[in-house]
Amino acid sequence: MTLRVAIFISGGGSNMVSLLDSMTSDHPARPCLVLSNNSDAGGLSKAAARGVATTVVDHRPFGADRAAFEMALNETLEQYQPDIVCLAGFMRVLTEEFISKWQGRMINIHPSLLPKYRGLKTHARAIETGDKIAGCSVHEVTVELDEGPMLGQHTVPILNDDTPETLAARVLIEEHILYPAMLRKFADRLASGT
Ligand code: GAR
Repeated sequence: MTLRVAIFISGGGSNMVSLLDSMTSDHPARPCLVLSNNSDAGGLSKAAARGVATTVVDHRPFGADRAAFEMALNETLEQYQPDIVCLAGFMRVLTEEFISKWQGRMINIHPSLLPKYRGLKTHARAIETGDKIAGCSVHEVTVELDEGPMLGQHTVPILNDDTPETLAARVLIEEHILYPAMLRKFADRLASGT
């Protein structure tokens, strides 16, 4: 059985592209949908160019009503029936209710060595702290923000002259290696039912 993967993005979608490009040959999964909360997300055209269905569920008309936004997300997912949801630079906080529905089937990439630097501005915080090593993490999504069982991490040295931008660019290179490898591991596990 081929597993179906939906990928959520908010921006350029470089991680999403690395996931799409990895799901070939004997990979147990194939993409079924790229969803963005933002119609300007550059990743949408990259997914469409790869022949993957795209859709926008804009969070803005829902204002502070996260439950209504997530109901719209779930209605869309219902149509595409994914087995796995990958968050790939999806910059909306999801509620406990949504996460509970997808727990065990939803994974996320975060640009830090979790549990360090949950939330935003991870690279600036690592540099300010004087860390010598940064990196990225792929984990299962659970109700606490940027927590959940760790699937894997890659490290990147922090150089003396690094800025948040230069560090982010080097971490992103590792993200593009780590995320496809961890999706494969996660999908293999789901496919084998272990
Ligand atoms: C990536 O660095 C990803 O780790 C980060 O956003 C960037 C998205 O880039 N995600 C988060 O910060 C989530 N908390 P991309 O759109 O090019 O993949």
